[in-house]
Amino acid sequence: MFSTAIGLSRQVVKYTMSNTMKQAIKPTACLMPLKAKTGRMFIHQRHLPKLPVPPLQQTLYRYLLSVKPLLSDFDFDTTKKLVDDFGRPGGIGEKLQMGLIERSKKLDNWLSQWWLDHAYLNFREPVIINSSPAVIFPQQSYTDLDGQLKFAASVVAGILDFKVMVDNQSLPVDKLGGSPLCMYQYYKILSSCRIPGSRKDSIVTHPADGPDPPKHIVVAHNYKFFSLEVYKDGWTPLTRSEIYQQLCDIVNRSQETSAPVGILTAENRNTWGKIYNQMNKDRTNRAIFSEIQRSIFVLCLDEKISSLPKEEFDNEVGRQLLHGGGSELNSGNRWADKTLQFIVGPNGACGLQYEHAPAEGPPIATLLDHTLTYCDNVCEDVAPVDNQLTPAKRLKFNLTPDVKESIENAKISIDSMIEDLELQIFKFKLFGKDFVKANKLSPDGFIQVALQLAYFKIYGESCATYESASLRRYQLGRTDTIRSCSTDSDLFLRAMADSDKSNSELVRLMRQAVESHKEYTNMAVFGDGIDRHLLGLKLMAIELGWNVPDLMMDTAYNISTHFKLSTSQVPAKTDSTLTFGPVVPDGFGVCYNPKSKHINFAVSAFNSSPSTSSMTLSLKLTESLAEMQNILVRGSMSAKL
Ligand code: COA
Repeated sequence: MFSTAIGLSRQVVKYTMSNTMKQAIKPTACLMPLKAKTGRMFIHQRHLPKLPVPPLQQTLYRYLLSVKPLLSDFDFDTTKKLVDDFGRPGGIGEKLQMGLIERSKKLDNWLSQWWLDHAYLNFREPVIINSSPAVIFPQQSYTDLDGQLKFAASVVAGILDFKVMVDNQSLPVDKLGGSPLCMYQYYKILSSCRIPGSRKDSIVTHPADGPDPPKHIVVAHNYKFFSLEVYKDGWTPLTRSEIYQQLCDIVNRSQETSAPVGILTAENRNTWGKIYNQMNKDRTNRAIFSEIQRSIFVLCLDEKISSLPKEEFDNEVGRQLLHGGGSELNSGNRWADKTLQFIVGPNGACGLQYEHAPAEGPPIATLLDHTLTYCDNVCEDVAPVDNQLTPAKRLKFNLTPDVKESIENAKISIDSMIEDLELQIFKFKLFGKDFVKANKLSPDGFIQVALQLAYFKIYGESCATYESASLRRYQLGRTDTIRSCSTDSDLFLRAMADSDKSNSELVRLMRQAVESHKEYTNMAVFGDGIDRHLLGLKLMAIELGWNVPDLMMDTAYNISTHFKLSTSQVPAKTDSTLTFGPVVPDGFGVCYNPKSKHINFAVSAFNSSPSTSSMTLSLKLTESLAEMQNILVRGSMSAKL
């Protein structure tokens, strides 16, 4: 199966391990004790398989296949030699592979803690734009402050309603292609927070079955923070009317803006880590940090939004959710370390921002679907009540001149980051996933091939492309990468640029490209992806104190992991759109929610890159999807003749 034109063959290798290697594999990386969870939500948990370590030769072979469309023949030959050397019997690849296999025997998941550290906690760029996605809710019908607060009260009640299912472990188990998925991410999204460090961050979670579970949320308004108890008489949640009453009180008590302390959380992580450690020496500040970190989530009641023409509304809401719109707008009305921030702004603009370290988009989308459905279905009026509720507690930081200066610096940083981001939120209305399914193709593969085509139309070449693939079929699974640029996609793109190609040839090549993408997807979701495996081999070398293998220092490795297209599908039942920033300076971030009859897209790029424009990619993507539809329609018409 693996011997081909590239000239590699799968080998059966016996591994033996040295004592140094045995010592290097520390059994420290269990993210959470699996034994404690027994409710319906975790019914499959103990039966989920452990993430496998793919065979070394399989990964090396597939790696070569994936870099082929990105390299010249000369560079490819160089890379092939490095791959051969890395994979030779008794070579460094086999030794590292052995280390990974040993690690996988000791841990529930050999990858998860490494991935958490590598992708998130060691990441030092600001989480805003670079790491934290936002979800744009469908525009709501409220138009004034009263409507905004009533909707916010419903959102809070809806999340608390969802929380009951997490707390009593009764949430229905997620499935992908019929297989049950790991549900632990749900356990980490509420009452959790990232904590900045001067070199590495950490995460805290305060679950309902832990000691002293939190009963409050934090509300941000006019850059002021309030701690609001959302349960009374033990664990009875406040009614929507009671929450509304409390929010009215908070708004009345925060008519003036304060120093935007929250803007510090949008800083570079080392910078914020140092400021945090300094502020944390003060007892009042320490108590406030703890109150925010322990809170179930943060609710941001936004004040201002730029007035824009209707057609710019979605883009503006996307910006508000992703970064707050700047230091003069809502960027200070956030606590970017918090795992979940629900943002309710004026004019029906709302959504959420989430800190990515504890979870991927799909669990967040499930929470959001539940919350919005709850908001739509509650019928009793939200009305003022005269209940004697304990007023929310104002969280007032002690700010030294140093911290005030840091806030001024943070304002400058975030404003320049924001200035640099270009975002396009749009609905592709010609068709949705029903049309693609009716043509017996995978909608996800079809969209990915259209993205390849859009990129090719602009640049005349393919680029390394990342699509998230869920590894939640495995215990504590996170993601691997689907490398969407393939030899088959490249063939299709080149055929599209060739006016001599017949429609039937285009149909054939398109189907081949989409099917090839589906094959890669299946491979990735079944734990046979290549990116996390190669990363694991590299991290194993580092953990052993060895040099990073030449294979991972090679140009091909850099090119094939310089993901100019960073993409993800986050399906939601509601008509929402998730959005995030590009992962490289000259790249795009593309997220989509395929609905039956339309597809929601968010495309981001950096203005500082002269070569990228999210507007251009969006136009080319729209064009590409339409052209691919035409090819299929023409193909099926001629088949009928
Ligand atoms: N003919 C007809 N229908 C087809 C088909 C074909 N050839 N191929 C697929 N379909 C159907 C599927 O059965 C499915 O049907 P459903 O809507 O009734 O469930 C639908 O089309 C969608 O399938 P597809 O488009 O192939 O995508 P998928 O649901 O398998 O998802 C991934 C693919 C990669 C998005 C998914 O595997 C995944 O990993 N998701 C998680 C990604 C993630 O974590 N993102 C967040 C990062 S923050």
